[in-house]
Amino acid sequence: MVSNNQLFHLFLFLCFFQITCLHAQLCTQQQTSALLQFKQQFSFYKYADYGSCDSVGILSYPKMESWKEGSDCCSWDGVKCDNNTSQVIGLDLSCSWLNGTIHPNSTIFNYFPHLQRLNLAFNDFGMSRISSEFSRFTRLTHLNLSCSSFSGKVPIEVSFLSKLVSLDLSYNFGLRLEEPGFELLVQNLTKVRELNLRDVNISSVVSNSLLNLTSLRHLDLSECRLLGKFPDGIFHLPHLNELSIFGNLALTGYFPEFINSSSPLQYLDLSYTNFSGELPDSIGNLKSLKALKAYDCKFYGSIPTSLGNLTEMTDLFTGMLPSSLSNLGNLVHLGVWGNNFEGKIADFLPNVKSLLYLHVESNSFSGPFPSLGANLTKLVYLDLSNNQLRGPLPSQIIGLPNLTWLGLGDNLINGTIPSWVFSLPALGYFNLSNNKLTGHVKEFKSTHLTVVDLSNNSLHGRFPSSTFKLVNLSSLILSSNNFSGELDMLCHAISLQILVLSSNSFNGSIPRCLGNFSIYFYVLDLRKNNFSGTIPDTFAKENYFETINLDSNGFEGPVPKSLENCQMLQVLDLGHNKFSDKFPYWLGNLTSLQVLVLRSNKFHGPILNSKFKFPFPNLRVMDLSNNYFTGPLPRKYFKNLNAMMNVDEASFELQYLGTPSPSASIYYYNDCLTMVIKGSILEMAKVLTIFTAIDLSKNNFEGEIPQIIGKLNSIRGLNLSHNSLTGHIPASLANLTMLEWLDLSSNKLTGEIPQQLRNFKSLAVLNLSQNQLIGPIPQGNQFDTFSNDSYIDNLALCGPPLLNACNPRTPQPPPLMFQQEDNTSSGFNWEVILPGYICGLVWGLVMGYFMFSRGNLSGL
Ligand SMILES: *[C@@H]1O[C@H](CO)[C@@H](O)[C@H](O)[C@H]1NC(C)=O
Ligand SMILES: *[C@@H]1O[C@H](CO)[C@@H](O)[C@H](O)[C@H]1NC(C)=O
Ligand SMILES: *[C@@H]1O[C@H](CO)[C@@H](O)[C@H](O)[C@H]1NC(C)=O
Ligand SMILES: *[C@@H]1O[C@H](CO)[C@@H](O)[C@H](O)[C@H]1NC(C)=O
Ligand SMILES: *[C@@H]1O[C@H](CO)[C@@H](O)[C@H](O)[C@H]1NC(C)=O
Ligand SMILES: *[C@@H]1O[C@H](CO)[C@@H](O)[C@H](O)[C@H]1NC(C)=O
Ligand SMILES: *[C@@H]1O[C@H](CO)[C@@H](O)[C@H](O)[C@H]1NC(C)=O
Ligand SMILES: *[C@@H]1O[C@H](CO)[C@@H](O)[C@H](O)[C@H]1NC(C)=O
Ligand SMILES: *[C@@H]1O[C@H](CO)[C@@H](O)[C@H](O)[C@H]1NC(C)=O
Ligand SMILES: *[C@@H]1O[C@H](CO)[C@@H](O)[C@H](O)[C@H]1NC(C)=O
Ligand SMILES: *[C@@H]1O[C@H](CO)[C@@H](O)[C@H](O)[C@H]1NC(C)=O
Repeated sequence: MVSNNQLFHLFLFLCFFQITCLHAQLCTQQQTSALLQFKQQFSFYKYADYGSCDSVGILSYPKMESWKEGSDCCSWDGVKCDNNTSQVIGLDLSCSWLNGTIHPNSTIFNYFPHLQRLNLAFNDFGMSRISSEFSRFTRLTHLNLSCSSFSGKVPIEVSFLSKLVSLDLSYNFGLRLEEPGFELLVQNLTKVRELNLRDVNISSVVSNSLLNLTSLRHLDLSECRLLGKFPDGIFHLPHLNELSIFGNLALTGYFPEFINSSSPLQYLDLSYTNFSGELPDSIGNLKSLKALKAYDCKFYGSIPTSLGNLTEMTDLFTGMLPSSLSNLGNLVHLGVWGNNFEGKIADFLPNVKSLLYLHVESNSFSGPFPSLGANLTKLVYLDLSNNQLRGPLPSQIIGLPNLTWLGLGDNLINGTIPSWVFSLPALGYFNLSNNKLTGHVKEFKSTHLTVVDLSNNSLHGRFPSSTFKLVNLSSLILSSNNFSGELDMLCHAISLQILVLSSNSFNGSIPRCLGNFSIYFYVLDLRKNNFSGTIPDTFAKENYFETINLDSNGFEGPVPKSLENCQMLQVLDLGHNKFSDKFPYWLGNLTSLQVLVLRSNKFHGPILNSKFKFPFPNLRVMDLSNNYFTGPLPRKYFKNLNAMMNVDEASFELQYLGTPSPSASIYYYNDCLTMVIKGSILEMAKVLTIFTAIDLSKNNFEGEIPQIIGKLNSIRGLNLSHNSLTGHIPASLANLTMLEWLDLSSNKLTGEIPQQLRNFKSLAVLNLSQNQLIGPIPQGNQFDTFSNDSYIDNLALCGPPLLNACNPRTPQPPPLMFQQEDNTSSGFNWEVILPGYICGLVWGLVMGYFMFSRGNLSGL
C-alpha cells in the first residue's frame, strides 16, 4: 500500500517538478522588458556588417525582430537561459543588423548578472565607445565585440571580467588599448585562452606583460601597430596553438629555438613584420605546425632542412623554400610570392600530390615554363605571373582537370598559345597579359571563364566568336594586340562587367545587344580601333557604366540620348571620331560625370544654356576642342562647375580615376586620357582626381571671356585658343592660381594683359600669341620664365622678354608683392606620374592583401 504520506511526497515531487519545468521556460519579467528596451535602441539594416558575415559564411538577419512582448524571452532568437534558474546566460546578437549605440544607462547592464556569453560581433555601433558598464557582467566567460564599429579607448573596467576565457575585440578600426588598462587586463584575465586584438591599436603597451597569460591557446595581435622587439617567450607559452602577429610593420624579433620543445603550435603568422635572422634548425621540432606564414619578413640564410620534417604542414607562405618540399606530403597551399628568387622555375616547383594552390608570382624565376610534374594533377590554382619566364609554353601538358586559375601575366613568354591551354575544362581565370605571344586564340573548352586577360601581346585574328561559353565572362581584356573582326560574339557575353579592347584593329559597329548586358557592366573601353557606325541608343534604364571610352575610332551620328540613363558614368570619352551633333547638354544631369571629352569630332552649334539648375556638378575635365561649336563661351557652366572650385586638396588623398577600393577586388581599371597638356598632346595613363582642365580650343566661339571664369580657382589648365574671342583678358583670371597652362592664342583679344596675372604661381606654359594685345608684359614670378613665343603676333606688347622696351609713359608695374619663388613650376608633373603604368586593367597589386585578409578567423 502506498501511504498518504508517500502520495503526498509524490504530489509534492510532481508539483515541484512541474514548477521547475514551468519556471525553466520563463524569463523573468524584468529581463523580458530589459531586453525589449534594449531592442528599442537600435534600427536594423542589412549592411551593418559591411557584408562581413557573408564572407565568413554566417547567415545575417535581424534576430531581434522575433522579440515580442508577451512571449517568453528564453525562447527568443539569440537568447539562452539557464535550465534551472531561467536566468539569461547567453546573448548572441552577432550578424543581427544592429545599428545604434549602447548607452551606459542601458537596461541591458542592470538585469543580467548571470550572463556568461555575450556576442555582439558584426553589427554597427556607430564608432561609439565600449561602455565601462560591461564590467557589470561579472560572470562573463566569452565576450565578442569584433567587427562592430566600436572606437576609442577600451575601458579599464574590462579587466574586471576576470572569468573571461575568450575576448575578441578584433576588427574595430578605431579601438585602442593603453596602459595602464592593458597591464591590468593581462594581470586579471589569467583564464583567457583566446585573445583576439587584431586591428586594435596597442602600440603603447609593453608586450612583455603578455607572458603572464599562461592559459592562452589563440593569440591574434595582427596589425596592432606593435613596436620594438617581440618577446620570444610568447612562442613558448605552454598551450599556445595559434599565434598571429601579421602586419606589425615595425615589430622586430627572431625566430626562437625550440630545442626539446613540445610546443603545440599549429598556426604561426609572422608575415609583414621585421622579423629577421636565420630560421633555426630546431623549427623541425614544431611537430604540430600546419601553417607557417612568414612572408615579407627579413629572414636570411639557408633554409633548415628540418623544415622538410614538418609533415603536417598544409599552408606554407614564406620568403624561402625548403630544399626538400617533396617531404611535405600534406602541403595544400604553397605561397612564395613577392621575393627575389632566381633560378629555373622547374627546380623549385614541388611535386606533391596534395598541392592545390601554388602562388609563385612576383619573383625573378627564369627559364621556360615548367612541364608540370606528374604529381600536380590536383592543382586548382597556379600563378607564376610577374617572373622572368621565357620561351614558349610547353606544347603538351596532360590532365589538369581542376585548374581554375592560370596566371602567367608579366613574363617573357613567346610563341603561340598551345591547345592544351584552351582545352582546360575548368578554367575560370586566364591571364597571359604582358608577354610576347603571337598567333591566334582558339575556342575555349571551359564554360566557366570569368576573366580573360591577353592584353599587351602580339596576338591577332578574331577572338573566337561562338558562343554560350562566354555567358559567365565578366572581364575581357584584349587591349594592345592586333585582334580584328567584329564584335558579334559579345552578344553572348551577357555577364560582362569590363570590356577593354583598346589599341587593336577591331572593326564593324557596336551590336545593338549592348543594352542587354549585365546591369553590372561598368567599363566599356574601345579606344583606338577601327569601329564605325552609330552608337546604338540602347543604354538600359538602370545601368552601372562608369567608363565609356570610344576615343579614336570612326563612330558617327549623334550621341545616343539613352546615355542619360548612365547615372554612374564618370568618364565619357568620344574624342577623335566623326560624331555629329549639337552639344549634348543633357549630359549635365549625370551627377557622377567627371571627364567629358568630345575632342576632334563634328559637334556644332552654340552651347545653349542648360535646363538644369546645376549642370555637370562633378566635372573636372571638359575637352570640347577641335569641333564646330559657335556662339558665346558657356558662361553658365563656368558658374556651376563646382568640382573645379575651392577644392581643398589637402583634405583628400591623391587618387586615380577609376580605382575601386583595394579590398573589393584584385584588380582595378585605370582610366586614361589624351589631352593637350602644357602645349603638347599627352596620353595620361592614370588620371589623378585633382586633375582639372578645360579645353575649348579650335572652335568658333566668339564674344568675351566672361569674368565669371575666375570662379574656377582649382583649375590646372585652360585652353581657349583658336577661336574668335574678343574683348579684354578678364582680370579675374588672376584668381586661377593653380593654373599650369593657359592658352588664349589665336583669338581677337584686345587691351592690356592684366598685371594681376603675376599671381600665377604654377604657370608653366603661357600662350597669348596671335591676338591684338597691347601694353607692358607683367614682370616677375612665372612671367620671368616665358619666352618670346608666348607673345608673338600681337599689336603692341612691350617689355621683356620682347626686345621693344615699353614707352616710359606706360606705367611701370609696382614692385613684387611676395617673395619670388624659384622659377620652376610648382605644379604637378603630370607626365612624370605615368611611367610604368598602362591604361586599362592593373592586376594583382593588392594580391597580398587579398590572400592575407582571408587569414584566420577562428576567434570570431
Ligand atoms: C537545457 O535544456 C535543453 C533542452 O531542454 C538542453 O538541450 C540543454 O542541454 C540543457 N542545458 C543545460 C545546461 O542543462
Ligand atoms: C544608423 O543609425 C544612425 C543613428 O544612430 C542613423 O543616423 C543612420 O541613418 C542609421 N543607418 C541606417 C542605414 O539605418
Ligand atoms: C540614456 O541616456 C541617453 C543620453 O544620455 C538618453 O537619451 C536616454 O533617454 C537614456 N535612456 C534611459 C533608458 O535612461
Ligand atoms: C580584477 O578583477 C576584480 C574583479 O573580478 C577587481 O576587483 C580587481 O580590481 C581587478 N584587478 C585589476 C588589476 O584589474
Ligand atoms: C605577472 O604577474 C605578476 C603579478 O601577478 C607580476 O608580478 C609579474 O610582473 C607579471 N609578469 C609579467 C611578465 O608581466
Ligand atoms: C629531420 O629529419 C631528418 C631525417 O629526415 C633527421 O635526421 C633530423 O634529425 C630531423 N630533424 C629534426 C630537427 O627533427
Ligand atoms: C610523386 O610523389 C611521390 C610522393 O608523394 C613520389 O614518390 C614520386 O616520385 C612523385 N612522382 C614524380 C613523378 O615526381
Ligand atoms: C577535381 O575535383 C573534383 C571535385 O572537387 C574531385 O572529385 C576530383 O577528384 C578532382 N580531380 C583531381 C584530379 O584532383
Ligand atoms: C622565344 O624566345 C627565345 C629566347 O627567349 C628565342 O630563342 C626564341 O627564338 C623565341 N621564339 C619565338 C617563336 O619567337
Ligand atoms: C535628371 O536626372 C534625374 C535622375 O537622377 C531625373 O529624375 C530627372 O528627371 C532628370 N532631369 C531631367 C530634366 O531630365
Ligand atoms: C576672385 O577671388 C576673389 C577673392 O578670393 C573673390 O572675391 C572674387 O569674387 C573672385 N572673382 C571671381 C570672378 O570669382
